[in-house]
Amino acid sequence: MRVAIGADHAGYNYKNEIVAFLQKKNYEIMDFGADTPEATDYPDFAVLVAKAVSMGKCDFGILICGTGIGMSIAANKVKGVRAAVVSTEFTAESSKTHNHANVICFGSRVSSIEEVLNFLDIFIKAEKSSDERHINRIKKIGKYEEENE
Ligand code: RB5
Repeated sequence: MRVAIGADHAGYNYKNEIVAFLQKKNYEIMDFGADTPEATDYPDFAVLVAKAVSMGKCDFGILICGTGIGMSIAANKVKGVRAAVVSTEFTAESSKTHNHANVICFGSRVSSIEEVLNFLDIFIKAEKSSDERHINRIKKIGKYEEENE
């Protein structure tokens, strides 16, 4: 499993913890930074991770900022990306099962690192639903993207 990850200054410490967590599982990590805790702009990292996902260079992406919100807004501008902000076990599960999220976004000022690692584990273990109603809804998003490039 190959995972792209990125964070701004607010997510920097969490990124390092998540990388260590995934390396223990023998995941291959594409780390797009930030490489220091200096103040940075979240869209710079969101776009790099989102492009890696969109181009099929990894299985999914992880983004961390203060809330997860800025990262998800920016990542969702990249075609083919379905970025979800996750802050509960329910959203961790349903973002994958219902929405087929391919980028998961966390807020370091919202969730503890222990919670984030638990949400990530739930997201990884969840299966994308093949239920027709979910597939149809995801297809509608893709159709909108195709028609509005
Ligand atoms: C940085 O202070 C903060 O605005 C950023 O990490 C993020 O929460 C934006 O959505």
